[in-house]
Amino acid sequence: MPELASQIESPARVISQNWPVTPQVGLILGTGLGRLAEEISIEYTINYANLPQFSEEMAEGQRGRLVCGQFEGVPIMAFQGRFHLYQGSSPQQAALPVRLMQQLGAKTLIVSNAAGGLNPAYAVGDVMLIEDQINFMFANPLVGINDDKLGPRFPDMSQPYDSGLAGIAVSIARQHSFALHQGVYASMLGPTYETRAEYRMLRRLGADAVGMSTVPEVLAARHAGMRVLGLSTITNIGLPDALSETTGHDVVAAAESAVEKLKPLMSGVVRSL
Ligand code: HPA
Repeated sequence: MPELASQIESPARVISQNWPVTPQVGLILGTGLGRLAEEISIEYTINYANLPQFSEEMAEGQRGRLVCGQFEGVPIMAFQGRFHLYQGSSPQQAALPVRLMQQLGAKTLIVSNAAGGLNPAYAVGDVMLIEDQINFMFANPLVGINDDKLGPRFPDMSQPYDSGLAGIAVSIARQHSFALHQGVYASMLGPTYETRAEYRMLRRLGADAVGMSTVPEVLAARHAGMRVLGLSTITNIGLPDALSETTGHDVVAAAESAVEKLKPLMSGVVRSL
């Protein structure tokens, strides 16, 4: 059995023994966004520490817990906390939550993160719908022997984010009268925030926001043929000519302030499935 399939087998068994439900949606909650799981009517929950293959240290603002239950009448599994390459996790480990939801039958991934804004029109507390991505981590979870049962050797990336789900998110933001930007997310390895020269470079290369996650998960989800919705909360502004200091604490606090915008977006998108 290929290595990845055997890695997924044991956590998948733990979950399906305790929660014998096919999830429709997998949700990955990024920095400061764990509270969104409070909206789920919980049927089963487990700390990563007790889940085989998942017991790793969590980043600041992340809890390390899987919540399974119903959200808007839809079975969902929500990961409060993810694995980052800057923690020393491999790209394959970063994609493990996606592999687990794939194994259990989820067809849709909703992924969220905290990101620095590069587009001068963005402000702290704004939300950006990710319409495309640039992989500046120079690492990919699909490197290695391909398991053809999980997905193709050379997955298409012409549209990593689903335009149907994006359109629903845009109309919900309009109904709630808040701006929802649409832009390109660039992933960096971290854990340092960017220098002024790096923010300038990323902007010139076409990115609207930058973060340290999401891309490995979305690559695995597209390999798996899942539909993807991606949402970034803008937690700091990376304008090279007017850059102030960024701390992890500020980023967590700003992400928490955007939770009230993410709630209706996630509810509306899940309800539409
Ligand atoms: N850069 C990278 N990752 C981030 C940032 C940033 O400015 N803000 C939040 N996550």
